[in-house]
Amino acid sequence: MGIDDKLRDLKEKEKLAELGGGEARIKRQHQAGKLTARERVKLLLDEGSFQEMDKLVLHQCHDFGMEKKRIYGDGVVTGYGMINGRHVFVFAQDFTVFGGSLSQSNAAKICKIMDLAMKVGAPVIGLNDSGGARIQEGVASLAGYADIFLRNVLASGVVPQISAIMGPCAGGAVYSPALTDFIIMTKNISNMFITGPDVIREVTHEEVTMEELGGAETHNTISGVAHFAAEDEEHTFELIRELLSFIPDNNLEDPPLVESTDPVDRAEEDLNQVIPADPNQPYDIRQLIRRVVDDGNFFEIQEHYAPNIVIGFARLAGKSVGIVANQPDHLAGVLDINASDKGARFVRFCDAFNIPLITFEDVPGFLPGVAQEHGGIIRHGAKLLYAFAEATVPKITIITRKAYGGAYCVMASKHIRADINYAYPTAEIAVMGPEGAVSIVYKRELEKAEALAQLHQEKVREFREKFANPYIACEKGFLDEVIKPRFTRPKLIAALRMLENKRDSNPPKKHGNIPL
Ligand code: HXC
Repeated sequence: MGIDDKLRDLKEKEKLAELGGGEARIKRQHQAGKLTARERVKLLLDEGSFQEMDKLVLHQCHDFGMEKKRIYGDGVVTGYGMINGRHVFVFAQDFTVFGGSLSQSNAAKICKIMDLAMKVGAPVIGLNDSGGARIQEGVASLAGYADIFLRNVLASGVVPQISAIMGPCAGGAVYSPALTDFIIMTKNISNMFITGPDVIREVTHEEVTMEELGGAETHNTISGVAHFAAEDEEHTFELIRELLSFIPDNNLEDPPLVESTDPVDRAEEDLNQVIPADPNQPYDIRQLIRRVVDDGNFFEIQEHYAPNIVIGFARLAGKSVGIVANQPDHLAGVLDINASDKGARFVRFCDAFNIPLITFEDVPGFLPGVAQEHGGIIRHGAKLLYAFAEATVPKITIITRKAYGGAYCVMASKHIRADINYAYPTAEIAVMGPEGAVSIVYKRELEKAEALAQLHQEKVREFREKFANPYIACEKGFLDEVIKPRFTRPKLIAALRMLENKRDSNPPKKHGNIPL
């Protein structure tokens, strides 16, 4: 064979690989409202940057007549490319080849790029669209999953891992995305569940649709498994690109700097009015955040889950920050089980990837109730406390209004190593709200009092005057400064710049034992 023949032969093989499961299945994929794996990779990455690997891999299964059904690439497209000029590794499951099911060979392809990603320190992005373990391969396929899970765990905290769910993701297969840092589900075409509606009907006699059980909305509102619900595939890729813009390539690097023309000394006059005079009146903490960060750009994460806490990325003077904020607009901003889990995981991500934490605090405490206690609020609340306490990145806290009870300690207080603690003049710091405090401390007097309502009111006023301010905490040095809300942005930027070379560490240990 001459060189021309060899080149023709290679071209032929590549063409076959690119055709995946064939025209008919590609058509079926499009009819299902889905793009193919290759179309997806092309849309995600910078134009022309994709370098495919293992395009000619074949499965090694010889059972069930599989030796006659071998397709180049074996149902997953893998390789590396660029997003906004930065290297990323990608795998995209190809549903047109055995339903994108995972074989030993295609698991090895995924493992190969994960190993490389860890060696060179670049993010891994998985585009999931698969019928799960390749049934014909039996335990070899299960082994392939376990090989991937191991790498997900080893890569955790070393390189960012992002999963997009763009089709079925069922059974044990869900655990690879679940081990990654962020899950984006594309509306209408994706679902995730351990066991599907048919099995559930048989076992528990519950009737549920695929979408209700494990669709994008379900996992973004009820279970908290997913972090984003994308409108369509293009939106999925936009979210991935934007997410990456805030985070570094690996744990040894800083997040990319994005220049902004937003003045660092910008004061926002109306921030002075943002906290309502009535301490029980709600307000949207996101409005405050948007007025403070560069160009009003706040990239919220898990927007629809546990909305009583708000988390997300933004920039201050071009630098990425992770924001954790109680949301007085929802359940008065209380901390409950779900909010604690949501906050804790985000804090740990930021800490792992050198992203400073800014905490806006307005929290009346932990949510009382039998369901919360029996659900383990003690254990879950401890996660948030643990995460904030162990974090060694720069930590800046602003108490905007309430900082009551244990929640005061938990929300990045000075005592758990926050570097700078500010409060607005509207801050209230106490063991509990004045009404509750009076009922306990003056219980006997109130039982005896004739003018009960009057005494109660009087004592509440007394308590409010004593504790509903930031000055006792200032006296003790627990707060560094009471700031005027309109100067929030310049104050945060000054503190962040001062903390730029912060060095802190935890005692040497194998690892801690976060209360999971
Ligand atoms: C081999 C599979 C497959 C699988 C689908 N296919 N799933 N081949 N192993 N797991 C093939 C089909 O035979 C078909 O081949 C093609 O993919 C498309 O499948 P359809 O059923 O025609 O597509 P659709 O109607 O869209 O339904 C998609 C589906 C369904 C919902 C994913 O295929 C399905 O239920 N598959 C089985 C899912 C499952 O139970 N997987 C195991 C989960 S347990 P042709 O040749 O006709 O195109 C698991 C354990 C992991 O994964 C454990 C890790 C620890």
